Amino acid sequence: MKRIALLTSGGDAPGMNACIRAAVRAALSKGMEVVGIRRGYFGLVNDDVIEMDDRSVSGIIQRGGTMLYTARCPEFNTEEGLQKGYDTLKRRGIEGLIVIGGDGSFRGARDLTERFGFPTVGIPGTIDNDLPYTDFTLGFDTAVNTVVSLVNNVRDTMTSHERVSVIEVMGRNCGDIALYSGLASGAEIIVIPEAPMTLTEIERRVKASRSSGKSSIIIIVAEGVHGFNDIVKDLEEELGLSVRTTIIGHIQRGGAPSMADRVLACKFAHHAVALLAGGKGGRVVGVSGGSIVDFGITEALKTERPMDMYMYKLAGILAR
Ligand code: ADP
Ligand code: F6P
Repeated sequence: MKRIALLTSGGDAPGMNACIRAAVRAALSKGMEVVGIRRGYFGLVNDDVIEMDDRSVSGIIQRGGTMLYTARCPEFNTEEGLQKGYDTLKRRGIEGLIVIGGDGSFRGARDLTERFGFPTVGIPGTIDNDLPYTDFTLGFDTAVNTVVSLVNNVRDTMTSHERVSVIEVMGRNCGDIALYSGLASGAEIIVIPEAPMTLTEIERRVKASRSSGKSSIIIIVAEGVHGFNDIVKDLEEELGLSVRTTIIGHIQRGGAPSMADRVLACKFAHHAVALLAGGKGGRVVGVSGGSIVDFGITEALKTERPMDMYMYKLAGILAR
């Protein structure tokens, strides 16, 4: 393969820039030409293509976000949009495509491979950690570290006022950001979609924390629970508590990538380029037990992973 392209798609994630840099340089080191497609599939449909060289990716390893920009492009879900995207690849002499994004972005890559036999490789880039075939997605570690740092700040002020705090974190339908940040920040209660918790159970745990002498109570709620307001209202009305709320929002999606995400980005990108260089497409890369692995994209999208009950129970045991 002589000429490949890369794009970032869906929600941005810290480490995408480090991944772009690594993919460009790994490909150039193999004698390939590399182009960047700007704004994800929108750029593919609308022919927004830039040439990339070693210097075009200088100074970005430490930057959050994505220098290629990202977008959501409903047109690419249509037969016409897919055809336009494929036409851009052909017209530009591109022989392989690396897609850095989440499951939606992978579905687009899968369609290109299944419909036209075009070689694509997906790199999991999303803070949500919601791609079950891989232990971790790019950006998750940074997002969790950001959340932990913010919860530390909330804890200081909650402790001083002996208050209860309900904090919402992102993750779409996946509770991993809440679970990992909750365990790492010592949250008293973690509410995630994978383990629904009744309002009565939350009340019970809050009362137990109070009577054990705790001066502050932190409840982390994953956005996928869709129950943030109900929890707050219930604690105020049923227990008469003065509750403070924080929705962390997009703050957890920006910022400099952690060391772990930068290293993962380098390894993912190197592996993805090696797959394309070896003529292999329709694959996704991931990490399993510390090793970089790859799977067929269709198989990967069907993979299911049970939630980490051990972590969930551990957080409960340690929150006493
Ligand atoms: P993420 O990749 O983070 O999951 P989205 O779900 O928003 O983000 O998907 C990003 C983009 O991927 C969409 O805007 C669309 O262009 C493309 N995409 C999503 N789902 C599909 C699909 N079923 N078929 C083709 N392309 C898709
Ligand atoms: O997929 C990443 C993510 O940040 C989710 O956690 C969240 O639900 C969504 O994207 C937010 O999307 P937007 O930036 O379009 O509001």
